[in-house]
Amino acid sequence: MNISTPLAVVVLAAGQGTRMKSARAKVLHELAGRPLLGHVLAAVAPLGPARTVVVVGHQADAVRAVAAGPGLSFALQAEQRGTGDAVRVARDAALRDFEGDVLILYGDVPLLETATLRGLLDAHHATSAVLSLLVTAVEDPTGYGRIVRDTAGGLLRIVEQKDADAPTRALREVNPGIYCIDAAFLAAALDRLQPNNAQGELYLTDVVAQAVASGRPVTSQPVAPDEVVGVNSRADLAALEAVVRGRTVARHLAAGVSFLDPATAHIDAEVEIGADTIVGPWVQLRGRTRIGRDCRLHGNVFIADSEIADGTEIKPFVVISESRIAASCTLGPFAQLRPGADLGRGVHVGNFVEIKKSILGEGTKANHLAYLGDATIGSAVNIGAGTITSNYDGFAKPRTVIGDRVQIGSDSQLVAPVTVGDDAYVATGTTLRHDVEPGALAFNPKPDQRRAGWVEAFRQRRRVP
Ligand code: UD1
Ligand code: CA
Repeated sequence: MNISTPLAVVVLAAGQGTRMKSARAKVLHELAGRPLLGHVLAAVAPLGPARTVVVVGHQADAVRAVAAGPGLSFALQAEQRGTGDAVRVARDAALRDFEGDVLILYGDVPLLETATLRGLLDAHHATSAVLSLLVTAVEDPTGYGRIVRDTAGGLLRIVEQKDADAPTRALREVNPGIYCIDAAFLAAALDRLQPNNAQGELYLTDVVAQAVASGRPVTSQPVAPDEVVGVNSRADLAALEAVVRGRTVARHLAAGVSFLDPATAHIDAEVEIGADTIVGPWVQLRGRTRIGRDCRLHGNVFIADSEIADGTEIKPFVVISESRIAASCTLGPFAQLRPGADLGRGVHVGNFVEIKKSILGEGTKANHLAYLGDATIGSAVNIGAGTITSNYDGFAKPRTVIGDRVQIGSDSQLVAPVTVGDDAYVATGTTLRHDVEPGALAFNPKPDQRRAGWVEAFRQRRRVP
């Protein structure tokens, strides 16, 4: 066993995926908020490959864009001439000088786990194999390459469905398409492939018979069929979504997170949640969201690409995107934090408050009916009900700046650009067009007046005789 053998990974991702009925390449379709290809790359990354080559074809540029990362390169297979041709393209682009093992897998098989791949590599090294592959037994082998063995159970070759005779088609042990192959042997074996088969393609699977013929050890490792299912259709994708969701919730449960209704929690693959946080029904946590410890998400909450620190409470019907919330805040119900909301410790945001590209300092409160956009607000400020930052004149979006300990009275409009100094008061119902110096009171003179007896006179006038 040689654990130091360098590893290269080849991911086949050139296919279009016709049955997806999509303008997008199949591997770009998302599962749990991450492209299919991203799942595969995440599974191989912990193996520490020296190189990873993704074979791209359909929508090559878009696939390159989602997969970019260190140690990753791309090989363009302009025409899909079969899995053998795809690996040749990878070899010619990035593996000519490579010595070690080559792990080959598909970009559309997203449930494969790192531990399974590690098991394959371990078996490969333990048996000094020239080629090792995963195998699986399925109820319905239609479409798969069949694993053909000799009477002693030794591996002989793989026969594709379209090339198989009836007895071979009856075999239920199949090829999921995941191999570990000695690089030097693979490089030479690829050159010997011939398209002499029903599909006129270069079959990577023909490398298996070559390995057997070489007389060197060839190993197969069983894998559960559920783990190597590929995505071919939207129905497959929807089915896997439920599987991944279950796996993700199970992982968070094991790490100390409570779920009041696991079936309705939609947690994307890359989301992190701290221990002792309680997740209520119908919570969606999307993208690169991080939730701290001891938070409470009451339910019907949507949070995307945001950071929520420890001990924050989020009441129902809150939508948060691309925002940062410090510890011990209280949000909602019915609040929206749009991109660039940055809340300090202990901030309270109540019902029907919308915040965009705004900083709220520690302990500041906006409890009811407000729009705060493009504002920098200090600490311990109280934003009264109905406060609006008028931040858009049809051209620019100037900023509103509010100091510490400011009181903004209800139903005020702050017409940006405008600055309110520390400790200032803005009276209820003020339309603020000019800066307020620290400690001052700003108000619009709007005297309240009285007309005695006016109501009775009005009713008389309206009364039908
Ligand atoms: C292949 C295997 C078959 C196995 C099955 C498992 C061969 C000849 N057959 O079948 O034994 O049971 O996978 O799903 O290898 N791809 C490219 N370029 C190509 C062709 C394919 O990148 O020229 C990619 C596809 O995008 C896909 C993967 O390789 O991700 C498998 O291709 P697909 O056509 O689905 O495999 P099959 O030939 O059906
Ligand atoms: Ca297939």
